[in-house]
Amino acid sequence: MKKTAFFAALIISVVSVPAVAEMSVDDQIETRQSAYQFAAWNGKKIKAWAIEGSEEYSEQDIIAAANAIAAVANSGMGTLFSRDSANDRAENTRLKPNFFNELDNVKNIALSFAQESNELKKVVADGDRDAVAQQFNKVVDTCKSCHDNYRAD
Ligand code: HEC
Repeated sequence: MKKTAFFAALIISVVSVPAVAEMSVDDQIETRQSAYQFAAWNGKKIKAWAIEGSEEYSEQDIIAAANAIAAVANSGMGTLFSRDSANDRAENTRLKPNFFNELDNVKNIALSFAQESNELKKVVADGDRDAVAQQFNKVVDTCKSCHDNYRAD
């Protein structure tokens, strides 16, 4: 890439950051809570089939649920977490401020959430219930490790 093009790209990327940051704190909180609720709703379908055995297997439903969870995990939710949106500064949120002192750990958890969700998509495509249960539990472990550290009770 030519130097000027590189700097142009850099300027564009730097300039476009505030556009994302302009999202109000309330909107960040609402959007991330909805995204996690949506992931949980989809996770319940997989759990009901693969772990509890309480629902009949609809291959289409389970594939759709796994795709939805992976979509949340891969959506780049980091931009929905500004420092001002933690529960020491904002209302109606359970995000703990230590999140921002431990960004390396947060990043690792977020990465695992994405990787395990992507793997779940593959396992679901094979339709092996025990394998799905096992992989689903790995996804849930990543949910839990984030909640245990960064979500207030
Ligand atoms: C990177 C950290 C992280 C990961 C991974 C994560 N969560 Fe969360 N989750 C949070 C935080 C932080 C909150 C609190 C958000 C708030 O109140 O602003 C939360 C909130 C929630 C909520 C409550 C939403 C509401 O309405 O208040 C549910 C349900 C939830 N998560 C489910 C899940 C499930 C299911 C997964 C995995 C499939 C998951 N989360 C993965 C950090 C995470």
